[in-house]
Amino acid sequence: MTANVGKLKGGPQRFVVAPVETVGGEITVPGDKSITHRAAMLASVACGTSRIHDFLGGDDCLATLEAFRALGVAIETDEHGVLEIEGRGLAGLRAPAHPLDLGNSGTALRLMAGLLAAQPFDVELTGDDSLRSRPMARIADPLGAMGARIDTAGGRAPLVIRSGARLKGIEYALPVASAQVKSALLLAGLSAVGRTTLRSPGPTRDHTERMLPGMGVPVDEDAHSNVVSLEGPAEPRAIEITVPGDFSSAAFFIVAGCLAANDGMTIRNVGVNPTRTGLLTILRAMGAEIELSAIRTMGGEQVADIHVRQCPLRGIEVPPHLVPLAIDEFPILFIAAAGAAGRTIVRGAQELRHKECDRLSVMASALNALGIDARELPDGLIIEGGRFKGGRAASHGDHRVAMALAVASVLSERPIEILDTAQVATSFPGFTAVAAQTGIAVESRRL
Ligand code: S3P
Repeated sequence: MTANVGKLKGGPQRFVVAPVETVGGEITVPGDKSITHRAAMLASVACGTSRIHDFLGGDDCLATLEAFRALGVAIETDEHGVLEIEGRGLAGLRAPAHPLDLGNSGTALRLMAGLLAAQPFDVELTGDDSLRSRPMARIADPLGAMGARIDTAGGRAPLVIRSGARLKGIEYALPVASAQVKSALLLAGLSAVGRTTLRSPGPTRDHTERMLPGMGVPVDEDAHSNVVSLEGPAEPRAIEITVPGDFSSAAFFIVAGCLAANDGMTIRNVGVNPTRTGLLTILRAMGAEIELSAIRTMGGEQVADIHVRQCPLRGIEVPPHLVPLAIDEFPILFIAAAGAAGRTIVRGAQELRHKECDRLSVMASALNALGIDARELPDGLIIEGGRFKGGRAASHGDHRVAMALAVASVLSERPIEILDTAQVATSFPGFTAVAAQTGIAVESRRL
């Protein structure tokens, strides 16, 4: 897969991370990326003005906001940093003057394809090298079955969505457990006539299903059979919502804490929706001591403070059914596996080859470059626990790979240099500052 080198806002960057023996403290992480995207999209087509507190101001979500501005939506932040979106209704968007560039964000591009499938104007959706190399037939095909007219570039972006499609609800069995596909079809279902019913091969994050009822659109769910459905057409109404801290950002510090928080570490105000927290189940099976406190519900989502302390980890065979529930956490889980005694085996994770980079191949190479024995399987990795020697590793412009490798510093004999780190800002602006609060010294350098 092509790296993003040279295409990044502000130019290429790298991290240099000094070895550290212990981490600790009390931190918070920025807002959840998946929830921010959904809130911004649904608010844009809602009736009325929505207010979104603690939204993620990362590049991925900013790309979504820019795209909706280009579609005629007024979006401002008030003096308290609350995002105010004046919804234009499902029929109120206007034709953009240019292709919509969703940068590095698969969520933005796939969900917007669903939301825009029935608009009365042509629209082109595109992104950076990484996004243009990711599979799009998985949404274009079922959206086509609903009546959408979408041209892809050989199954990849750019996507051109043709005007004037009249969508009808369908029953569809997803071939992969993907929340992006499920959500794209649910969002198209808002403009479709009749019921859109989706069956997934396993559970996936359910933020769309949780948000829509709060906006007046009922969603029927059968959690046992992983079936969701909604009746269209249905226009959401405006919402006031507070976005919890992103579990996927907290994950880097949860693992750092398991490996080196001798006196414990706390991450406050983190979303702990059970469709997101597979990493906790996996780490506990490896022997981790992780506790949740102050569990509460905000905007239909569970939120908690997470407490973690250093504890010896042991390698395990990760149950494949947990893969979709920890889908974004594998780069950092591989670091935990490198710090565990014995062998960790991950299988059933072929979807990791279709993320911002091929995360199986890139993580195997990075682990090997830093002195860890990791072998690639077609659908996973085998990792032998060891000690990082330090050195230089490529992140291939993948934000989560870069942050995971930075956490390897807690086990490393010498400094770790990580290449192509500018994309960290897509999901975790301020990562180096939060890392510093825990004792992880990440120096960000321009090449
Ligand atoms: C996301 C779903 C996941 C995840 C991505 C965000 C979402 O992708 O990897 O970072 O917000 O729906 P898939 O559902 O395609 O696995």
